[in-house]
This record gives sequence, C-alpha cells and structure tokens, in this order.
Amino acid sequence: MGTAKFEIDGKSVELPVLRGTDGPAVIDIRKLYAEADVVTYDPGFTSTASCESKITFIDGDAGILLHRGYAIDELAEQSSFLEVCYLLLHGELPTAAEFEQFEKTITYHTMVHEQFDRFFQGFRRDAHPMAIMTGAVGAMSAFYHDSTNVNDPQQRMISAHRLIAKMPTIAARAFKYFRGQPFVYPRNELSYAENFLRMCFSVPAEDWVPNPVLTRAMDRIFILHADHEQNASTSTVRLAGSSGANPFACIAAGIASLWGPKHGGANEEALNMLAEIGTVDRIPEFVQGVKDRRYLLMGFGHRVYKNYDPRAKVMQQTCHEVLAEVGAQNDPLLQVAMELEKVALNDPFFVERKLYPNVDFYSGITLRALGFPAEMFTVLFALARTVGWISQWKEMIEDPSQKIGRPRQIYTGAPARSFVPVDKR
Ligand code: SDX
Repeated sequence: MGTAKFEIDGKSVELPVLRGTDGPAVIDIRKLYAEADVVTYDPGFTSTASCESKITFIDGDAGILLHRGYAIDELAEQSSFLEVCYLLLHGELPTAAEFEQFEKTITYHTMVHEQFDRFFQGFRRDAHPMAIMTGAVGAMSAFYHDSTNVNDPQQRMISAHRLIAKMPTIAARAFKYFRGQPFVYPRNELSYAENFLRMCFSVPAEDWVPNPVLTRAMDRIFILHADHEQNASTSTVRLAGSSGANPFACIAAGIASLWGPKHGGANEEALNMLAEIGTVDRIPEFVQGVKDRRYLLMGFGHRVYKNYDPRAKVMQQTCHEVLAEVGAQNDPLLQVAMELEKVALNDPFFVERKLYPNVDFYSGITLRALGFPAEMFTVLFALARTVGWISQWKEMIEDPSQKIGRPRQIYTGAPARSFVPVDKR
C-alpha cells in the first residue's frame, strides 16, 4: 500500500496509495477535501481513476488490451462475441453447458414488443440511425418495467440479457427504416452475427444467402468493440447509473456520448476523411493540413494508447479478409489508408505525439465492404459496446463503495454581488 505526502497551505497531508493487479499506483483522495479542504482538478480525467473495475485493462504504452485477463487478439481469434459477452458479464469463460444456456437465453430475447416498431415511424426517413438508436433504446424503459429495479440482481441480469439480445434487432430496424425497406424478424436458428446480417440485408424479393467469412468478420468486429475501460461513453453510463436510473436509460445516455466524432463517431469520420483524400498522391497535402492544425487525422490517436491499438491490427487483418471475400481488395480507399498509415507512422509530428491508428482507422473500409453505409458505423459500435456498458453498469451497482457521482469544480466566475434593478444597470 504505502502513502503519498504533500504540503498545502502550511498543512501536511498524507493519503493512502492503492495498487491494482496491474497499471499505475493510485492515490486515494476520497478523504482529501474533508482533511485538507482542497479538491483536485482534472477536467479530462487524464490522471483520475473514477472507479475500481475487474472487467478490462489497457496498457497504453505496450498496446495491450485484456478482458477479464484474456488478450483481445486471442479472444478475436479463438472466441465468439457471445462467449465474450458471457466473460464480460460473469468474469469467467463459460463451460460448454453454461454457454449453451446463455446463447439460448439471448436467442429467446431477440424479438422486440410488436408495438415497439411504431417508434420508428415517428422519425423522418433520412434521420441519422444514431438519432433513432438514442431514442429507441431509451424507450425500452417504457416497455420492460419488469426489469428496471436496479436493486434486484435478477432484474439486473434480465435487463442485461434483453439489451444484448435486442440491440441487433433495433439496430437492424434503424438501418431498414433509413433504407426504406421492410423490417426483418430475428430467426432463432441463426447465430448472433448471422441473425444481425440477415435482419440488415435480407429483402422479401429473394432468399438471403449467409456468407460464413462475412459472418465471422462481423462477429470479430463486435468482439473488438465490446468494452474498453472507462472511455467517455462507459463513464457516461456509470455516471447516469450512479443516480439509480434504469439500465435502458443509462445505455441510451452511453449511445448519445458514443456518437461524438472524437469517440465512436470517428469510424464514420475516418472513412469520410479517406474519401476526401481520394488518392494516394493527395496524402502529403492532407498531412500538412493536419500539421497546420486545420483538422485531425481521424482514426488516429488515443487518450490511453501511446502505441498501436491492438484492435487496429486485428481490424486491419479483418479488412483484408472482407475486401478479398467481396472482391474489393483493390479498393482505392484501402490503398489510401495503408499509405497514410505508413506516412504518419514515420512523420515526426505523429511520432512525437505518439499517435497511432486506433480501432476506427480500418473499421470504416471494412464495414462499407460488408454493405453498411457510413451512417451505420457508430450504430454497429454501439451494438457491440452495449455488453461493455451493461457489464460496467452492473459492476458499479454491485460495488458497495459506489456513491452517486457528483464532481466538484474550480469556480472562476463573479464573486458574490447584490442584485441591480434594471433602471440602475
Ligand atoms: C475511440 O477512450 C477510449 O477508449 C475510446 C475508444 C473506445 O473503444 O471506447 O478507444 C474508441 O473513441 C477511439 C478514438 C477515436 N477518435 C478518433 O480517432 C478521433 C481522432 N483522435 C483524436 O480526437 C484524439 O486522438 C483523441 C480524442 C482520441 C485523444 O485525444 P487526446 O487525449 O486529447 O490526445 P492527446 O492528448 O494524446 O494529444 C496529444 C497531441 C495534441 O497535440 P499538442 O497540443 O500536444 O501539440 O496530439 C494531437 C493533440 O492535438 N492529436 C492529434 C490527434 N490526436 C491527438 N493531432 C492530429 N490528429 C489526431 N487524431
């Protein structure tokens, strides 16, 4: 353990130092205000741990991502998204019997209430699918009152199952509504990823033919996006949940935060950026614009990773597999992406700032090759991240030291002053 000591305003303060399984030591400042009448200032939480968690660990310098101790590249290679869902929720990989029961539970929660479909009719046809997702998922709390009591462990688990199971159905409906095509019901004999692809791409006019290579790629992409410590959207879910709000409302808050272009919206922006560059010969001009601070290199950089995002490596490999399968291996945007990565990884501006490709750099090209428009990219991210959000939410609710989140501030506004009547202003 140990302690950290410092002086402030003539007072000496000594605080306990906590150490986790891995990662930096943690100064426990919970008693700082009471003992020293001071608070800390860290607006982006760059040096602040908001909670204790056993779910995910990132070593940003080494480019390592672990889910319950298992490395992301091993899970992407050897596991399935539903098995990773079980691991994140329960803390251990399931036995064959446990997985069979879990998969059956999820399968039999994939349908949404028939009246739920009327929500979509209220949106304009050209509504961004993320706007639809934010509204539709929040509305789940209007349908599933029997699983909104956050203090009941059984209801917590049912709401987790419902969210994991229904997100593909709702996401596919958002896509179909955006496309102007009829909704497709889930099929219980299909796997999670296959069910989702069929609900997105099958049409009444012809039989839908599954493609095992694309199904495997979709499942792996879900694994890559499942959880990622206390990122902006997960912190949003935890803060919303700390007030006791129901899980559906908390996940809707997470979706809203994920939509931002600096977070989950980056995959859509990264593809738009590659399309705007267009050809390899325009890369130097674009890179100069980044250096002149006119815009960011989307899909690059990360708050925690100061090395290659391990997910980006798996995503790049998946990108090549999908493009080969659909016959688009000569996609000019892939050539631009690979050349842009090479240029950036050798340019001092990016090297000095430790800017590497993150999970979003290659995902846009891959998802477009799977048949999704850019507007759906963050929806797919939200679909996959739902298990991370709900696992972190459940961990927070079950943490005995959990309190409602209520940060302090540094006040720099006007000092106290008397009201001035309008005829004296
Ligand atoms: C995700 O947190 C998570 O875990 C998120 C996520 C998850 O799974 O939940 O991993 C998903 O959101 C991945 C990130 C997707 N976002 C993007 O690709 C958008 C582009 N990236 C940037 O917006 C940025 O890198 C952030 C927001 C991701 C990180 O921002 P930080 O923490 O402020 O970056 P930093 O402090 O490390 O920046 C250091 C320097 C700064 O320049 P200086 O002022 O020091 O000169 O690098 C610059 C930044 O301005 N910089 C960039 C840049 N990212 C940082 N310059 C150009 N292009 C970039 N992409």
